[in-house]
Amino acid sequence: MGCDHTLIDLALVNARILTDHGLIKGGIAINDGKICSIDPEEHLPKAFTTINMQGNLVLPGLIDVHTHLRDLNLEHKEDFYSGTCAALAGGFTTVLDMPNTVPLTDSALRLQAKMAVASGRIVANTGFYTCLPAEVTELKRLKDLGAMGCKVYLHNPHTMLDVDDDNVLLHTLQVLEDLDMILTIHAEDRYLIEDLVAKFQAAATSSPRIRSKTHPPQAEVKAVQRVLSLIRGRCPRLHFCHISTGKASSLISQAKVEGLSVTYEVTPHHLFLSETLLGKVGSLAFVEPPLRRSTTRRGLWRDLLTGSIDVVASDHAPHALKEKRHSDLWAVPSGFPGLETTLPLLLTMVARGKLSLERLVAVLARNPARIFRLDGKGVIAAGFDADLTVVDMDKEFIIDSSAFYSKAKYSPFDGMKVVGQPVQVFLGGNLVMDKGEVVSKPGSGTILRPSLPAVG
Ligand code: NCD
Ligand code: ZN
Repeated sequence: MGCDHTLIDLALVNARILTDHGLIKGGIAINDGKICSIDPEEHLPKAFTTINMQGNLVLPGLIDVHTHLRDLNLEHKEDFYSGTCAALAGGFTTVLDMPNTVPLTDSALRLQAKMAVASGRIVANTGFYTCLPAEVTELKRLKDLGAMGCKVYLHNPHTMLDVDDDNVLLHTLQVLEDLDMILTIHAEDRYLIEDLVAKFQAAATSSPRIRSKTHPPQAEVKAVQRVLSLIRGRCPRLHFCHISTGKASSLISQAKVEGLSVTYEVTPHHLFLSETLLGKVGSLAFVEPPLRRSTTRRGLWRDLLTGSIDVVASDHAPHALKEKRHSDLWAVPSGFPGLETTLPLLLTMVARGKLSLERLVAVLARNPARIFRLDGKGVIAAGFDADLTVVDMDKEFIIDSSAFYSKAKYSPFDGMKVVGQPVQVFLGGNLVMDKGEVVSKPGSGTILRPSLPAVG
């Protein structure tokens, strides 16, 4: 697809562009919200507006497949505007929003109501997951409405369906397979966790370490094993969220080799942080699954570099600071914000020569677009949407959560020195973030729905 207009809308010049054919110096021609060519400047068509990229790196707009935007009755933690501003500031053009909201997103009516509120507030492209509805028949309506996928929390199911029962889970997987809908899974075994919580609470001992011990590596491994053994010989689309142990990572990699249709993500906190942080920042670092040992962390890096990990997702899970500082450790909610730290953390590894830019773009854009069927996204090429993330690789800075757009102004990464900063973001050819400032209006983001699979 070329530029068949003599005057196009926008030309981005003096850029280093990460394409599928490597890094190209030159310019990007954009018309009607789409990329129409990537060429040396002298071959670009005339443009109504030209912007100089100052030699900065231009990446495909990044996609976060695990974002908790909250809003509705949890807007004190985050709302659709603050959360999607955090996305843009962090270099993400698209986020997929999680359904564990109040009220839960678990019916077509509730999804529709959520979309209606979000449409007036979002500034980034946003897709929505649903929880498993009380009746599996509701899944078809949810799919028709444009749910990006279905999410199940095996340790805390958020559904009336008895997903502890293998037969119920298997039937649900069959319905999802027939609908060609993806199931994303928080894989931790509920009974193992509940037993440990009961044991420690009865002993009336509590410390950040003890609370973390209630989610042992074995809880994740057991849940992953259970799901993988249920789907052998079948073909539902499954995506495991925030895998935190080497054992689960290798089980899923093995299942992929065997031809099962499974993918998985890891988070920056499981890649960069370890449980020793609990001694320093206490309950602030509570997250599910919890931070693990440094040896586990290093194993995840190996799996990221070899290519077996499909996606890095932020698991942006904002809570109010006073909730995170609750004096009863058992009452502290798990999770912390991640949208504004994920890209700089990974770029730092690129700057240190430990991670290739190609791999970064694969796990933050290309694979998320493929797995969640976001056609036209995830790649810089003619015909694709002009969703772009511009990065200054010379910029060094210290992570400072007080400057976050997220309402959750704290971070376990606070004080960390990073290299590489998102400086501009384009959404469909419109400049929506400039030098760290969001410059678009609430409601300017688009609600995304999965594309239909290619036929043939
Ligand atoms: C998430 C949240 O706060 O919604 N918390 C977390 O620790 N990861 C829930 C989740 O993604 O499991
Ligand atoms: Zn989860």
